[in-house]
Amino acid sequence: MNIENRFTANVFSKRPVVLTRGKGALVWDINGKEYVDCSTSYGVALLGHCHPKVVAAIQTQAEQLITCHGCYYNDKRAEFVEKLVRITPKGLDKVFLSNSGAESVECAIKLARKYTGKQEIIALMGAFHGKTMGALSATWDKKYREPFMPLVPEIKHVAPDNADKIREAISEKTAAVLMEPIRGESGVRVPPNGYLQEVREICSEKSVLLILDEVQTSFGRTGKLFGFQNWSVTPDVMCLAKPFAGGLPIGITVAREDIMSALKVGEHSTTFGGSPLVCAAGCAAIGALVEENLTERAAEMGKYFKAELERLQAKHKIVKEVRGLGLMLGMELRYDVLNVILRAVAKCVLVLDAGRTVVRLLPPLVINEEQIDRAVNVLDEVLGEEESERAISSTVPN
Ligand SMILES: Cc1ncc(COP(=O)(O)O)c(C=O)c1O
Repeated sequence: MNIENRFTANVFSKRPVVLTRGKGALVWDINGKEYVDCSTSYGVALLGHCHPKVVAAIQTQAEQLITCHGCYYNDKRAEFVEKLVRITPKGLDKVFLSNSGAESVECAIKLARKYTGKQEIIALMGAFHGKTMGALSATWDKKYREPFMPLVPEIKHVAPDNADKIREAISEKTAAVLMEPIRGESGVRVPPNGYLQEVREICSEKSVLLILDEVQTSFGRTGKLFGFQNWSVTPDVMCLAKPFAGGLPIGITVAREDIMSALKVGEHSTTFGGSPLVCAAGCAAIGALVEENLTERAAEMGKYFKAELERLQAKHKIVKEVRGLGLMLGMELRYDVLNVILRAVAKCVLVLDAGRTVVRLLPPLVINEEQIDRAVNVLDEVLGEEESERAISSTVPN
């Protein structure tokens, strides 16, 4: 821990644990202690850690060809994009491969400006789209934005969950509306039914692109392959990343063909994006997701997990609300959650925060009931400890 602290930028809120190994929903620390992982590296390891198909694909490809710039054709890249386009909604069939969620958003913003010839992007208050300058400009939280002003101009934010706010904000300058179908970082906030459909209609009516940031909500996470499928809408552009290469770095911007063809040779590129190694892992990852019916499993396990969290809500007054879809779950507390998260780590369960007061659970789709029970039992204990320390059982604020 000390060496990492000494030689790396101090930008992560570190948990006091050194992880060295993982398998499925479990990880182990340097002392061999076992943890249930409901954080999956912030939503990357959706297949569980070291899925055997992904490991085998990486091993085989590493002996063939690791890197191959986009200016050359490559067999694995072709296989990957074909597999990917087979699972994307009809019409969304042109992709740009990069290396992270933020990069997939950068490409989407450039694409929207180039395709429409307009500049303005409308994003949502509370949104999180990454921390590179373009993506950061669409991210809402001022603690991320303010130290780095001025940001990319013509990106404005409107209140979420009210389609009229979007209708009012759209002007002749508007190129696109950019949003997460379920807002993850700002607290696992599921929109009201009808909202996304209405936004889709407004965008079509006003000839504004709808860009959905599916970086956290795709790959079966919410019980559907893509989060927006919970509301039967289709975006014009979508941003993918985290789990699509089984744990290797990937970003994917997917668009309709007419939109993607707005980008001409040289107007956008990346050195590493679409490497054979990442694409081989991606083929295996999509293969495992589909063949092992993990999307359906996420819906089923998500119901079980959510019901267990609701049981904790009924038991602990410190819990204000339980939210989420599939295996993207949030438990809002009446207080700051950092203590709860650190106590859970100490009891061998890894969970995330989302904003100041929400415990976010992003377990792998392969988690089983026994592992969910272990996580829930630890949260039960930790919430009990927090409650007795705060002595709030009889006097609840709000
Ligand atoms: C919705 C969303 N968009 C974009 C990003 C940025 O992804 P990355 O950290 O890979 O750049 C994240 C990361 O958590 C995210 O949740």
